[in-house]
Amino acid sequence: MDLALKGRIAFVTGASRGIGRAIALALAAEGVHLGLFGRDTTRCDKLAADVLKQYPDLRVCVVPLDLESGTAAIKPAIREAVKQLGGVDILVNCAGGAYRGRLEQIPDDAWERYFAVKPLGLIRMTREALPHLKKSKQGRVINISGTRGREPGGPSVMSGPINLGTLSITKALANEFGPLGITVNAICPGSTDTGRWTELVNITAKERGVSVEEATKHLVREVPLGRVVVPDDIAGLTVFLASKQAAMITGTAINVDGGRTRGIP
Ligand SMILES: NC(=O)c1ccc[n+]([C@@H]2O[C@H](COP(=O)([O-])OP(=O)(O)OC[C@H]3O[C@@H](n4cnc5c(N)ncnc54)[C@H](OP(=O)(O)O)[C@@H]3O)[C@@H](O)[C@H]2O)c1
Repeated sequence: MDLALKGRIAFVTGASRGIGRAIALALAAEGVHLGLFGRDTTRCDKLAADVLKQYPDLRVCVVPLDLESGTAAIKPAIREAVKQLGGVDILVNCAGGAYRGRLEQIPDDAWERYFAVKPLGLIRMTREALPHLKKSKQGRVINISGTRGREPGGPSVMSGPINLGTLSITKALANEFGPLGITVNAICPGSTDTGRWTELVNITAKERGVSVEEATKHLVREVPLGRVVVPDDIAGLTVFLASKQAAMITGTAINVDGGRTRGIP
């Protein structure tokens, strides 16, 4: 199937590891040039080298960016990536996370720091990328949210509002950007096997007073499909949403959680 992705340009935040890294690799496999944004440039440089080794015809640039630094850092970062790659067709806002803990365990400033990355960081990234996305024939914004935005709970009370904010801005921008021919969608990962999964397993083991193996079994038992989500599961859907086949999909949010979320999505 021709996804019409070859030669397109994607910017990916949170590309240094976990889900963002998998997304960058999956887009590269479809012939997409990459702007990799991250704080950890050593990891991003390694990813760029891995991509170029496999796909030497691609153009890849690494742009250092701490989203907590706000618009003052985001503006020049986008400018630099556009200068190096010539534009952008697909913006994948993946950077983020949530401070793990119940309400009383979360330091006050953590709320502001994490919200500065997601959803605020993705709002600013999208705004600064917009003039360039408008020039694309296949403009796409794909926001990595999380199922806790729909079903708050678990050991991170912060995950709910951060991901709900991401879903809300996704819908609002889909309406706003529709007439520009740009689609805006969200993906809601369930617990996914990145560093965050290891944290979740350890916290669950501690809270339940069980071993890490027991905690893992308990968490996996909650997933109807019987395994933890892996970053490639999210990457596959990202590629589809970026493709021409997804041209009429906008303003939606798709769970990739093995059925773990109990409510109707
Ligand atoms: N894993 C899950 O279970 C899960 C579930 C639901 C939703 N999600 C969402 O999926 C996305 C990716 O998560 P992940 O599991 O891949 O997490 P991860 O392995 O912890 O990676 C987080 C990424 O975000 C980047 N990041 C964090 N703070 C940043 C900042 N201030 N400026 C720039 N980049 C920053 C990190 O860059 P550095 O390397 O520089 O730290 C890293 O690339 C997040 O938005 C997360 O909320 C994940």
